[in-house]
Amino acid sequence: MHLPNLLDAKKRVEKETIIKYDDYELTSDMEVLGKDKKYHIITYGCQMNVHDSENISAIMEDMSYTRTEDMNDADVIILNTCAIRENAHNKVSGMLGRIKHLKENKKDLIVIFMGCMAQEEVVVNKLKDKYKFVDIILGTHNIHKLGEYLYNRIKNNEREIEVFSCEGNVYENIPVKRDSKIKAWVNIMYGCDKFCTYCIVPYTRGRQRSRMPEDIINKCEELYNNNYQEVTLLGQNVNAYGKDLDINYNMANLLSDVAKIGIPRIRFVTSHPWDFTSEMIDVIASYPNIMPYIHLPIQSGSDRILKLMGRKYTKKEYLELVNELRKKIPNVTITTDIIVGFPGETEEDFQKTLDIVNEVKYDLAYTFIFSKRVGTPACKLEDNTPLKEKEERLQRLNELINKYARISNDKMLGKIVEVLIEGPSDKEDKFMGYTDTMKLVNVKCSEEYVGKIIKVKITDTKTWSLEGEIVNE
Ligand code: SAH
Ligand code: SF4
Ligand code: F3S
Repeated sequence: MHLPNLLDAKKRVEKETIIKYDDYELTSDMEVLGKDKKYHIITYGCQMNVHDSENISAIMEDMSYTRTEDMNDADVIILNTCAIRENAHNKVSGMLGRIKHLKENKKDLIVIFMGCMAQEEVVVNKLKDKYKFVDIILGTHNIHKLGEYLYNRIKNNEREIEVFSCEGNVYENIPVKRDSKIKAWVNIMYGCDKFCTYCIVPYTRGRQRSRMPEDIINKCEELYNNNYQEVTLLGQNVNAYGKDLDINYNMANLLSDVAKIGIPRIRFVTSHPWDFTSEMIDVIASYPNIMPYIHLPIQSGSDRILKLMGRKYTKKEYLELVNELRKKIPNVTITTDIIVGFPGETEEDFQKTLDIVNEVKYDLAYTFIFSKRVGTPACKLEDNTPLKEKEERLQRLNELINKYARISNDKMLGKIVEVLIEGPSDKEDKFMGYTDTMKLVNVKCSEEYVGKIIKVKITDTKTWSLEGEIVNE
């Protein structure tokens, strides 16, 4: 048994990223473990977790398990959890309650708890003592060992709790079962060294580790050869790509090498404003297949709060970056993340956040109330603002965000845009897809266009989506 340890999770020592090419391995016994059995996976959190779940599914299927979308029908239930805010925790707790109930009537059911919450010391201690129906707990650093833990659990009938609070390596040979045949996620780096004072990710995901350029490029070439239309390069802070490798190769180099492969659409998330270079902007501007869509979290418009958050840029620097992006990349869409109610945020600080929203006029923003994460520096800061006031600030902010989202969408009326059609929309007879600038469009067209990039005329606009029809040339 290995339990997570907060102090170890905080540690960073200068060392080069270790890349392991053959650590994922199943014995022949493991390969048949899931014959005639089913697994169900529930994923919370960010794209990183969504993509991890694609790895987890592939491992389960390498062990002959088949997937079921019906939790009641499963022999193994996997929770891939997120720790970013308290409400992520709450969702998982609610689900654990349901699963406990299921297991009371199905003793052989195996429950696996993994993801970012499994890296939290407080969470695992509680699971260990009070949630005995959870059979296996493993963290973000040892997904490739899932087969071994599941095999041991079944053969030895003992709980497996294996969570490592290490800085982490890169494991290259983990299989992947992609949810889509059109769009794919590709990790370019893992972990984060930024340690924004509110954020738990550096503790749950370990230090920043970049993959080798050739491994990323090979993966993208494979996707291109398999006719994928879109690739999103993933990392907590992609602009810092390569800084932990001794190879003199950065995100701008990677973007241009990936663009040259010829995949029709390339995206990347998430960009920390701190590491965004002019060189990167020039590369984005010069390749038509790098999408003009930048997610650029600001978090707060107050320099005082930004400093307390450890974000390492000022409002002025952020605005300069936005201006450069808008000047060099025509048509660019900029979206953001904002936290309200950070400890000590005054009405005046909050007003500055509204000011920057008025200045940048974001196309979209994800807004959150500050949530205390155990072990982070912000957790210890004095916080006198009542929740009610924070909720009221969030509401005011959202109204403003919605206003600009609506304006941004309204500007699209009558325009002809390119949309990558992904599949049926919730609306009858329509298909959904995204523009290059990441706007959701419901299109009147036939099924033959799924997986294709087509020209669409925008016929109606809403706050969160557009309506359109195919333009026949
Ligand atoms: N790496 C990304 C962010 C990943 S987390 C970046 O730096 O941009 C996604 C968003 O969750 C963050 O941008 C932040 O707005 C929000 N978030 C993170 N920790 C939070 C906390 N403790 N309380 C509220 N929101 C938080
Ligand atoms: Fe969290 Fe900051 Fe790292 Fe983003 S950059 S994952 S907000 S610590
Ligand atoms: Fe959540 Fe972990 Fe992502 S905390 S947001 S799943 S990196």
